[in-house]
Amino acid sequence: MAVSQSTAGLFLSALVFTILWVNIARRNRRHQHSHGLANLPSPEAKSWWKGNFDQALNPKAWDFHMRLLKEYAPVVRLDAFLGDKQLIVFDPKAMHHILVKDQAMYDKPKSTFSGGVLIFGKGLVTIQGEAHRKQRRALNPVFSIAHMRNMLPIFYDVVHKVSITLIHELRFPTHDLVSGIRNQLEDGLSSKFKDENAPQEIEILSWMSRTALELVGQAGLGYSFDDLADDSGAHPYTGILKQLVTTLGRMWFIRSYIVNFAVKIGSPSFRRWVLDRLPWKGGHRLRDMSDYMWELSKQIHEGKKRALAGGDEAVARQVGKGKDIMSILMRLNMEEGSQSQLDEDEVLGQMSSLIFAAMDTTSSALARVLHILSTRLDVQGKLRQEILEARKKCGDQDIPYDELVSLPYLDAVCRETLRLYPPVPYVFRVATQDMILPLSNPVTGIDGTSISEIHIPNKTAVTVSIINSNRNPVIWGPDALEWKPERWLSPLPDELIEAHIPGVYSHLMTFNAGSRSCIGFKFSQLEMNDSSIYLPNSTVYRPEK
Ligand code: HEM
Ligand SMILES: *[C@@H]1O[C@H](CO)[C@@H](O)[C@H](O)[C@H]1NC(C)=O
Ligand SMILES: *[C@@H]1O[C@H](CO)[C@@H](O)[C@H](O)[C@H]1NC(C)=O
Ligand SMILES: *[C@@H]1O[C@H](CO)[C@@H](O)[C@H](O)[C@H]1NC(C)=O
Repeated sequence: MAVSQSTAGLFLSALVFTILWVNIARRNRRHQHSHGLANLPSPEAKSWWKGNFDQALNPKAWDFHMRLLKEYAPVVRLDAFLGDKQLIVFDPKAMHHILVKDQAMYDKPKSTFSGGVLIFGKGLVTIQGEAHRKQRRALNPVFSIAHMRNMLPIFYDVVHKVSITLIHELRFPTHDLVSGIRNQLEDGLSSKFKDENAPQEIEILSWMSRTALELVGQAGLGYSFDDLADDSGAHPYTGILKQLVTTLGRMWFIRSYIVNFAVKIGSPSFRRWVLDRLPWKGGHRLRDMSDYMWELSKQIHEGKKRALAGGDEAVARQVGKGKDIMSILMRLNMEEGSQSQLDEDEVLGQMSSLIFAAMDTTSSALARVLHILSTRLDVQGKLRQEILEARKKCGDQDIPYDELVSLPYLDAVCRETLRLYPPVPYVFRVATQDMILPLSNPVTGIDGTSISEIHIPNKTAVTVSIINSNRNPVIWGPDALEWKPERWLSPLPDELIEAHIPGVYSHLMTFNAGSRSCIGFKFSQLEMNDSSIYLPNSTVYRPEK
């Protein structure tokens, strides 16, 4: 049995690979007739068969993209598998066309959909076309400001009941983020450090991952994953999501070129049978993660259905008290005559999609803010001052929604962090027919001619570089690469205003543009400006005797 299984595995791998090879080679022959892309400058390719693919798409590609920003025009050709020609852009007009004006002709890559549905089910992130428009209509009201307002207390609950107690009240027994971090600091002090004035290090990213999961857990799903009590308590979901991101990150090639074909072969149970037998560890890990998420979503969903059937009291007893995204969605969905009703598997599909879209992004933004503040004590002090004053004005209570969202320095710190360190640095699209892509400013082709419009053949992959748009010195000014919250407190450069960046938020591409922009962007800002309140006074921590 063992022998036949691994032989079958090898045979199947070889077969799948051959089919793909033939398919891609056929497609590339068509591409060679297009001159529009070939005339665009491109960084030299490192590999004869993968082109720039590995340079551009890997977790350490920062230098490569910085080079694109510094040495190339905001539209560059990339050579991918077997000469497959792709584009990477951050020209404002081009971005507007791809993401807003002509967005119907630039789909997300098929692999996002086929692979995404396999992993998450039919959620907002993983579907397209009319089904996506319907889900978006159903979900938009769920993310309204009114609902966000109601969620603020949930955020406060997670992060802390009483602000700034970190420094002053060392023995605070509640289970939440602040006491969790404080316990860790105290443990560190008693064991590692004799000198209690010595600085201490905290691995803030793992704390923020747990926080982000708990925030979207409670406010998104009405479910508590983690009481944030101590180091050992992290919910398995946190690890799974981080692993999912890195595992998927390592599978660029398979996701771009293989999944599309693979999902067309046979029935789901046959594909599962094949996957179980393929000698492919990453694939098996993805399978197990996806099973885990689906089972948990089903459990949570069942619990909510029971509560909704049990009436208002049962709902009020739940985590989130019925004010979380899923409860709102399920209630709207039950309303008679509601126009955009979702099927049960679509409702279920939202859960892991939401967690996935919310967690890694939020945790990376929060960790980044805290890290910066731990190195910029001047900024930290000023921010602390602003927050303390706002708290004093409301009697040292949690700062209410309207005051919270109008603190100028906090706002500038959040914006600047989201500008320079966008948690999602690129989005990917594929042209679904031959297109003409206009540019804000002409670029010089390899043959020296000036190019103001690019001919994009059907099926060309186009990457929008969010990060390079946010960092472009041509529009943000020569200090574009510096982290400077003050830039938001004085008038923004004319070049920036005139560039008409299509992003939904604050001239930034961070939350994307158009009908597939981030639906959770207000949610995440609120997470950020709420959580920032509870910053320890620098990571240099001196407990009182
Ligand atoms: C700092 C935090 C966040 C950032 C930077 C961010 C960024 C983005 C970006 C760039 C996209 C577009 C992806 C693409 O088109 O390929 C997106 C989509 C999405 N985001 Fe966020 N996001 C954040 C937080 C959240 C949160 C907290 C939620 C939910 C509560 C959320 C829910 C979604 C959903 C559902 C989509 C898919 C929308 C659609 O396709 O219609 N995001 N996000
Ligand atoms: C941190 O707190 C201490 C004591 O409360 C204060 O003296 C110090 O100025 C604060 N530092 C910053 C950067 O806010
Ligand atoms: C806080 O979040 C709100 C969205 O609810 C946003 O409008 C505001 O700009 C944010 N403020 C800060 C201080 O980041
Ligand atoms: C573009 O390519 C897709 C996928 O092969 C094909 O279905 C579609 O008909 C093409 N569109 C046009 C306008 O040629």
